Order: sequence, then C-alpha cells, then structure tokens
Amino acid sequence: YRIAVLASGRGSNLQALLDAIADGSLAAAIVGVFSDRPSAVALQRARDAGIPARSLRPKAFATRAEFDAALFAAVDEVQPDLIVCAGYMRLIGGAAADARQGRIINIHPSLLPAFKGLRTHQQALDAAAGEHGASVHFVTPDLDGGPVIAQARVPVHANDDADTLAARVLEREHPLLVETVRWLAAGRIALAEDVVHVDGRPR
Ligand code: GRF
Repeated sequence: YRIAVLASGRGSNLQALLDAIADGSLAAAIVGVFSDRPSAVALQRARDAGIPARSLRPKAFATRAEFDAALFAAVDEVQPDLIVCAGYMRLIGGAAADARQGRIINIHPSLLPAFKGLRTHQQALDAAAGEHGASVHFVTPDLDGGPVIAQARVPVHANDDADTLAARVLEREHPLLVETVRWLAAGRIALAEDVVHVDGRPR
C-alpha cells in the first residue's frame, strides 16, 4: 500500500506514520513526501528515512491550477494508493481534488464541521468550546468540508491557551491518523457518492 504525504512544516504526523511503519504496526510504505516549502522539517524527516522528498515553490507558478498540476504530476509519478495531507497548509484546487476523490485525506485540528480554516485552537477558545479535537476527512473541492472519516476528542480546560490546547490535540492526532490509514490500507474505508463507507456500509 503506497502512500504519498504532503506536508508544509514540522511533520510530526508524517513521523507518526513513519514510526508505525518502522515498528511493523502499519503495513504500508511512504513512497514520496512533497512540500510547498523547501525548508519544511517534514522533508528532512523523509530524507532521514530514505524516502524521496521534493518541494515545489508556489511562487514559481502563475496560478494555483498550474502549481497543483505540477505538484500532482510529481505525486502521481510515485503511484500512490493514498495521498495524505499532514500539515499541508495550501488549499488544493477543485480540479486536482476532484480527480483524486476517495484517494486524498487530510488531518485537520478541529472537530469538523466546527472551526474550519486556520488558527483552529484559538477559534475553539474564542467560541468557549467545552470540547475540541481533530478530524481526518476525505479531501474534496470544499475546503475542510469533505466527508469526515474519524475524529479524536479532547476536553478544553479553563486555563488553556492556544498552545496548551494544540499540544493536547496533537498528541491525539498521531494515533488517529495512523489508525485511519491502517483502516484505509486494509480496504475497510471507502468513499462512494460522497459518503464514507466502513466495511461496505454507509456510515
Ligand atoms: C497539525 O495540527 C495538523 O492537524 C494541522 O497542522 C499541524 C501539522 O503538524 N493541519 P505536523 O506538521 O504534522 O507536526
């Protein structure tokens, strides 16, 4: 089961996948890591694990569509069964997302559909949410709006700031992403007519 990972930064979710593969608890291979930022730590993590890593600069392209076309041409070259956006901070255009529906997932640090977009932990605090968390969802042309596959919940404490909350969520993101990818690799999760199916049944 071949996985391509898209990441813009630190890459701790990428690392969680690499660690699960290394310890034998995830039967898959990461066959390429791609970034829109040459300085992304995720690229170094990939290289340290002997995985091809590439970055493309959005500024080198006239339009989002051209950037996406170049990025996904590189991604398609490694022939992934699954594309995982793990801290990939750029919007994926409609055409690129549409062409790969059911084969691209994203991890987003909120309990979707609550708190789409950026600064989700601050959004949760501003809304005085009692609960927060992370979601793994299929990527569709609708930003952070694709069908949710799985979520992890954490409490929000009275003395939380965005950093303490982010840390509590991140700790849950890693096992959530690994477990979701495990189910996808096992063929237990699929997207059909915009609905997530688990073991063949709509969920
Ligand atoms: C995570 O919180 C992820 O949900 C969000 O960006 C962060 C990426 O962290 N989209 P990392 O790069 O995987 O460490």
